[in-house]
Amino acid sequence: MESALACSSFQFLCMITLLLLSFLSMQPTTSATEFSIKEATVQDIQLAFQKNQLTSRQLVEFYLNQIKLQNPILKGVLEVNPDALTQADVADKERKDKTAGSLSRLHGIPILVKDNIATKDKLNTTAGSFALLGSVVPRDAGVVTKLRKAGAIILGKATLSEWAHFRSFGAPSGWSARGGQGKNPYTLGEPCGSSSGSAISVAANLVTVSLGTETDGSILCPSSYNSVVGIKPTVGLTSRAGVVPISPRQDTVGPICRTVSDAVYVLETIAGVDTFDKATIEASKYIPKGGYAQYLKKDGLRGKRLGIVRQYYDFQDGTFLNETFKLHLETLRQRGAVLVDNLKIENIDEIMSDGSEEIALSFEFKLSLNSYLKDLVASPVKSLADVIAFNEKNSKLEKLEYGQDVMLQAEKTNGIGKAEKQALLNMTRLSKNGFEKLMKRKKLDAVVTPFSSFSNILAIGGYPGVSVPAGYEKNEPFGICFGGLKGSEPKLIEIAYSFEQATLIRKPPPIRKFGVVMV
Ligand SMILES: *[C@@H]1O[C@H](CO)[C@@H](O)[C@H](O)[C@H]1NC(C)=O
Ligand SMILES: *[C@@H]1O[C@H](CO)[C@@H](O)[C@H](O)[C@H]1NC(C)=O
Ligand SMILES: *[C@@H]1O[C@H](CO)[C@@H](O)[C@H](O)[C@H]1NC(C)=O
Repeated sequence: MESALACSSFQFLCMITLLLLSFLSMQPTTSATEFSIKEATVQDIQLAFQKNQLTSRQLVEFYLNQIKLQNPILKGVLEVNPDALTQADVADKERKDKTAGSLSRLHGIPILVKDNIATKDKLNTTAGSFALLGSVVPRDAGVVTKLRKAGAIILGKATLSEWAHFRSFGAPSGWSARGGQGKNPYTLGEPCGSSSGSAISVAANLVTVSLGTETDGSILCPSSYNSVVGIKPTVGLTSRAGVVPISPRQDTVGPICRTVSDAVYVLETIAGVDTFDKATIEASKYIPKGGYAQYLKKDGLRGKRLGIVRQYYDFQDGTFLNETFKLHLETLRQRGAVLVDNLKIENIDEIMSDGSEEIALSFEFKLSLNSYLKDLVASPVKSLADVIAFNEKNSKLEKLEYGQDVMLQAEKTNGIGKAEKQALLNMTRLSKNGFEKLMKRKKLDAVVTPFSSFSNILAIGGYPGVSVPAGYEKNEPFGICFGGLKGSEPKLIEIAYSFEQATLIRKPPPIRKFGVVMV
């Protein structure tokens, strides 16, 4: 972000500018109404549009101010779209010209996309790395095409763990060379990654909604840490075309938002066939007629069978968490869910100790990244080997002290050999004999776990999951996760929405500027 850079070099000037901006942002943004942009949902905003209480331009201006104010500390936003205000004006004009009701729910709504999701505009797409700065993408990512078609405003790019945390496991979560260290707005500590910036930014009201990506935990974990809602869709339900890849077998693009309904509106917009990602054709059979919003039912928990895998509730120090989750389980029961307790995933020990995921991701990353880079119109790096060499050469800029062990490991792979085949077979077998068997035998609609502790089970099988805010321990937020079989998004949405509406736990973080907490 430009102002963030300017801040480090011209601290004083920057402070004056920001103080001025913060003064401006204290002025009421809309006059004589009760509508407040902070914490506003998509539905609130659409209603305000309809009543002429708000324009997309005012909305974008509000977020741009918040970004200027808070982003130097939080570092959730990597780049702001220079065309965002123009896009807002177009949306405002379209709304005037067209009849209400003919427009998409995301029309005129600002969205941030993770910096590994390509946009063919003035924004860079770099996965947080200087190695991709100046690369020219051939086209918008499939999900971005769908967002633009719906009339959403691309507000900018969100920060992330560099390369979606596939450079080195030694690099801190939420850190990238271009974006710096993203901060959890509640604690100023760990935001979790790799879709850290997406979660930070919606949590801190820097934008209405956002997109993240997940290979293993990267939507569910930051959502849990930053007290927001994340949907990790079934692999293939949303297009991965134009997304800097790790694994076509596990990668998925999904919404990170403040509420379940906002996340569902985004999911509904981005799900579906994209000819640039063949997996979307097969997965489109999962998309229900009439879309996902019909599953936003307050009584969605009634009759649902929820599995409790005890292992995930064994907290080491956990009186408080035990008590909280006991209460949550009680709430689920009171709302009509049947809890099927004391379950075990039969082969869980094998899953945890088996190295198959690591082996598979390693060779898949090399193949798919090389193919992504080859598809670029122009780029300083054309292969994984080039990226590794770039990091070596620019070791200061890229903080090579964090290492690039994951990339080096991947570079050593050579396509699908015997070990790789075995690893792929193992994961299919482990999923079938583990999670799928449990779900089918016990006739479960979902498994419910604290935090995102279930993410690797969901990852290796391509299964969906939803994370919903579940509480705060001291000031640290944590979530609850519902995971299910492929294509079970309708059920997961019913469960997640019903739980959210029964508890309404999320509260916004304090506003952060220069480390000073503004209430
Ligand atoms: C993209 O990167 C270039 C090179 O650093 C920079 O000049 C430009 O401002 C960036 N674009 C945006 C929208 O920030
Ligand atoms: C928390 O729950 C686990 C298992 O459910 C139990 O073993 C442990 O003793 C509990 N801890 C506390 C402090 O109650
Ligand atoms: C996969 O399964 C086979 C057979 O059970 C086992 O020998 C092997 O260790 C497993 N893991 C990997 C990474 O191949």
